[in-house]
Amino acid sequence: MSSEVQKFGGLHTKRKLDVLAKYLAAYVTVMKKREFELFYVDGFAGSGASTAKSGNAEDTDPTLFDTDVLIEGSPIRALTVTPPFDRYVFVDSKAKNVASLNRLADEFPDRRISVHQGDANVVLTDICREISVKRMARAVVFLDPYGRSVNWQTIEALAATKKVDLWYLVPVHAISRQVSEKGEFLPSADMTDAMCGTDAWRKIAISKPDVSNDLFGVIDDRLEKMARANEYSEFFKERLASIFQGGVAERYIPLGRGRLHEFSLMFACANPSTAAFETALRIANHILRTT
Ligand SMILES: C[S@@+](CC[C@H](N)C(=O)[O-])C[C@H]1O[C@@H](n2cnc3c(N)ncnc32)[C@H](O)[C@@H]1O
Repeated sequence: MSSEVQKFGGLHTKRKLDVLAKYLAAYVTVMKKREFELFYVDGFAGSGASTAKSGNAEDTDPTLFDTDVLIEGSPIRALTVTPPFDRYVFVDSKAKNVASLNRLADEFPDRRISVHQGDANVVLTDICREISVKRMARAVVFLDPYGRSVNWQTIEALAATKKVDLWYLVPVHAISRQVSEKGEFLPSADMTDAMCGTDAWRKIAISKPDVSNDLFGVIDDRLEKMARANEYSEFFKERLASIFQGGVAERYIPLGRGRLHEFSLMFACANPSTAAFETALRIANHILRTT
């Protein structure tokens, strides 16, 4: 494989990609029975592959995870699914990753792949327009940002297509970091408003987190952070449920380095047809329960 290798993640990266790969395999199996034009859209495609970033005990413990092992990234996971998607759209903001994705595309000459360098928000809005006007188009969209890069308007555009199944790695920990020790919001908190499409998250940020599971009554910092991450996740899940007409998976997977809950991997279905969303949610919930 000639594509560039990025360094990030570890165990949690593998788990996230396993969830995605299982969903893609089930999706193409179900959808290929019909005459749909199937799109796989990767808004934060990376370079194609990664190795674990060192520096975290759990992620780098060789008994748990071999740090030298290449993790095949989301684009490769999607390209190797059978039967294949009809269209692949890969987006990344970095020129080096785009060059690597183009080399990867050359390795799959029989696939229809377009690689875009740019901001996922801009490219995805264009793709949503294309998908919306094509009656038979259906898509799985994967959003795998490092932080709060996805604007709420982009999520609204995806929901409005009524044709997208969305897997989104929601950066809940980045939300927590927007409040100073003194309980004041940082100027960069505006970015969280943009990500959530509301400033309602601020109420959670300054409320006392529910740490009632702490039997000894000692408010441990880690416990508090976890409680907060769960609260933000539930909040964000409700935000998605308010615009995705097919609904949102009950569960999400908490992911992050070591035992940190930095991200929540969530699933939402834009398709309002009962047959479509029941199938999508049944598969997604099963994968989220068992992976
Ligand atoms: C976590 S990595 C993606 C990993 C990839 N999904 C995989 O499985 O290998 C996030 C990627 O998003 C890219 N990125 C950051 N900001 C972006 C933006 N606004 N639009 C598109 N890509 C962006 C980075 O260059 C990086 O490659």
